[in-house]
Amino acid sequence: MVKKYYIITHGCQMNVHDSETIAGILESLGFVPSSEEKTADLIIINTCSVRETAENKVFTKIGELRKLKRENPDLVIGVGGCIPQQEKVAKQLMARFPHLDFVFGTHNLPELPKILEKVFEKHERVLEVWQSEGQIVEGVPVKREPGVRAWVTIMYGCNNFCTYCIVPYVRGRERSRKKEDIIEEIRQLVLEGYREVTLLGQNVNSYGKDLTGKPMFAELLADIDKIEGLWRVRFTTSHPRDLTDDVIDVMASSEKICEHIHLPVQAGSNRILKAMHRGYTREYYLDLVQKIRAKIANVSFTTDIIVGFPGETEDDFRQTLDLVRQVRYDSAFTFVYNKRSGTPAAEMANQVPEDVKSRRIQELIELQNAISLELNKKEEGKIFEVLVEGKSKTNESKLAGRTRTNKLVVFSGSEEFIGRLIKVKITEGKLFHLEGEIA
Ligand code: SAH
Ligand code: SF4
Ligand code: F3S
Repeated sequence: MVKKYYIITHGCQMNVHDSETIAGILESLGFVPSSEEKTADLIIINTCSVRETAENKVFTKIGELRKLKRENPDLVIGVGGCIPQQEKVAKQLMARFPHLDFVFGTHNLPELPKILEKVFEKHERVLEVWQSEGQIVEGVPVKREPGVRAWVTIMYGCNNFCTYCIVPYVRGRERSRKKEDIIEEIRQLVLEGYREVTLLGQNVNSYGKDLTGKPMFAELLADIDKIEGLWRVRFTTSHPRDLTDDVIDVMASSEKICEHIHLPVQAGSNRILKAMHRGYTREYYLDLVQKIRAKIANVSFTTDIIVGFPGETEDDFRQTLDLVRQVRYDSAFTFVYNKRSGTPAAEMANQVPEDVKSRRIQELIELQNAISLELNKKEEGKIFEVLVEGKSKTNESKLAGRTRTNKLVVFSGSEEFIGRLIKVKITEGKLFHLEGEIA
C-alpha cells in the first residue's frame, strides 16, 4: 500500500524550503502527501529553535501525537530541523518520547532515505544528528509549491553569532553553494514555469567568501539577472554590516532585482547594538539606508526589531522608536527578546522584566502600524506591475499578487491572470495590503 506523509513546518523561510526538500525526498521514495495528520502513515515535524517558548510548544505537540499513535500503531513519527540540532535536546527527545521513531538534524537532511529505511524496514528507532556541517549535497529532490515563486538556497549557516541568536549553533558555519549550481537550478525552475526566485541565506551578503575564486554576492546577482525567462529576483536576509556598494549598484542597474530590502536593524541604540554583537552603529545604518534610497528609486524597506534585550533602558528603547521614525519602514517583524539558553545573552545579568517588554513591544507595534498604514495610503491612485500569485487567501473571489516592492495587492480579475504580470491601480491602502483594480 502507498504510504502517506504529513509535514508540520515551523520557523523561517529556510525551514519552509527544507520541508520542500523533505517532501521531495519522500516522494522520490514513493510516499504521497496526506491532507491531514490523522490519515498519514508518517508525520514529520520540522522544528525551529529560535525562541525557547516555541521549543516548548513542539514538546507539547509531540506529546499529543501519542494519541494518534495509539490508534494507529504503524504510524511513524519523526522530528527534524533546528531543535534536535542541539545534541542535548535531541537525546532528551528520544528519552522523553518513546513513541517518537526518529530524530534528525539540519546537517544530515540528505541522509533521510537511509534513516527511513532503518525505521520502516528494520523497525529501529533512530537518532541521527550530525554535529558538523558536512559537504553541500547537490541534486537532492525538492518538491516545490506550484506557482510562480520559488525559493533557492544560496548559502547555509551563519558566522555572526549575534549574542541573542541560536542559529549559528544549529545551522553551522557559512557554506556557499557554487555559483554554477545556483544558476543551473534557477534555469531549471524557469523551464518549469517559475518566474520569481528568492535567494535564501542567513547572511546573503557573505555569499562566496568561502569558495575558491571568492565570487561576490553582487556577481551572483548580476549573473542571475541575465537568466532569460526569469522576471523577478529577491533575496533575504541582508546583514547591514555586509551590504556592500557593489550590491546596491547591481540592484540599481539590474532589470530583475526587485526594489525591496529586508534589512534587520534589531535595535536603535549603539550600546545595545554592541551588546548584540551586530557590528554596526545606528549612524552607519541610517547612512546605509540613505545611500540605498539615493541610488534605488522607490525602494521599500522591511526589518526585524527586538525589544527588551538584556540591559535595554527606556532611553535605549526610545532610540529604537526614533530610528523607526527616521527610516519609516514599510513593515517590520517585531520580537520580544526571548532568553535563548545556549546563547551569551541568556547569561547576561540585567534581563528586562516581562511587563516592561510587553509595554515596549506594544508601543513599537503601534508606531510601526501607523507608519505602514500611512505609506500604504500614499500608494492610492498609483499603478503598479503586479505578479499575480493566485487567489487571495482572505477572499477567494479575488486575486492576490505582489508589487516589485513586495507589497501584497488584492484585486478582482479573471483567474487567467494567475502567473502573469498585470498593471493594477491602487484604490485603497490598508495596514497589511493594498486593494486595487485592473488598470
Ligand atoms: N539571519 C536573519 C534571521 C535570523 S532569525 C537575520 O540575521 O536577520 C529571525 C529574527 O529572529 C532575527 O532577525 C531576530 O530579530 C529574531 N530573534 C533571533 N533570536 C531571538 C531571540 N532570542 N529573541 C527574540 N528574537 C530573536
Ligand atoms: Fe542570528 Fe545574527 Fe546570524 Fe541572523 S546574523 S542568523 S540574527 S546570528
Ligand atoms: Fe530558521 Fe528557526 Fe532554524 S529561524 S534557521 S528554523 S532556528
